[in-house]
Amino acid sequence: MKKVKIWDGAIRLFHWGLAAAFGISVYSAFQDKFGIYADLHLYAGVTILALVAWRILWGFIGSETARFETFVKKPRSVLLYVRHKRKPGEPYAWLGHNPAGGWSVVAMLALLFLQALLGLFSSDDMIFSGPFAEAAGDASGVITELHETIGYALIGLVSIHILAVFGYATRRVNLLMPIIFGTRRVEDGVTGPKMAPTLKGLALMAVFGGLAWLLLL
Ligand code: HEM
Ligand code: HEM
Repeated sequence: MKKVKIWDGAIRLFHWGLAAAFGISVYSAFQDKFGIYADLHLYAGVTILALVAWRILWGFIGSETARFETFVKKPRSVLLYVRHKRKPGEPYAWLGHNPAGGWSVVAMLALLFLQALLGLFSSDDMIFSGPFAEAAGDASGVITELHETIGYALIGLVSIHILAVFGYATRRVNLLMPIIFGTRRVEDGVTGPKMAPTLKGLALMAVFGGLAWLLLL
């Protein structure tokens, strides 16, 4: 067995930054939304917007395991994967996301992106509004309702995500350490995926972050 790098540093920062910003978004959404909680909700929300926009770009130009073409599989592959019962401890064949996990990643990214976009046009009709709520006019009411509904859907989806990761752990598949430290143990003959430079990823992430925060000026 040897160790290979499967998640570059930028993806790992993306993941844990996203998890933190999501926690803040959800927590602040259920407080009285004025002062600090309103600010926290807006800043965490646009941070998510920037992170997910960056992740979509990285899905085309990033490391091999980050690219959509490597982990978004046809339904047939997903069915085959789900039916194949792995024995505990048996090495797993995929390097990054497995065929089922790939689709859950797509679902999370799509809903998070939509949610953060809708937030820009949402308003409580009193003191708490996204920067473009006024421009949305009458549509803002429907958009806000949708923003609330998708908020709950995301809480459900992310809870399933976290439960799934721990579910894999009970079958001795450790997904958590790689997304923290970047590496995974593989058989000697396996070649590691091609990695894009972390610095390039971080520089692009900084640009996306800067642009998104401009929305709140
Ligand atoms: C304690 C909480 C969390 C744990 C333990 C965790 C764990 C993980 C692990 C192990 C992976 C890699 C899965 C794989 O190998 O296929 C992953 C990926 C991912 N997680 Fe989490 N996660 C947590 C919280 C969150 C939250 C709150 C969100 C969303 C708001 C999230 C969104 C994602 C996304 C989008 C990916 C795909 C990464 C990528 O390809 O860019 N996670 N997570
Ligand atoms: C993905 C990130 C986000 C999540 C998970 C999220 C979640 C939520 C949830 C669950 C609510 C409803 C709370 C309740 O029932 O009272 C809410 C309300 C709201 N959100 Fe977000 N939000 C996000 C991003 C944003 C962004 C980027 C903005 C604006 C820049 C925003 C602006 C608002 C506003 C104005 C409301 C008030 C609606 C009301 O209280 O009637 N959100 N958000």
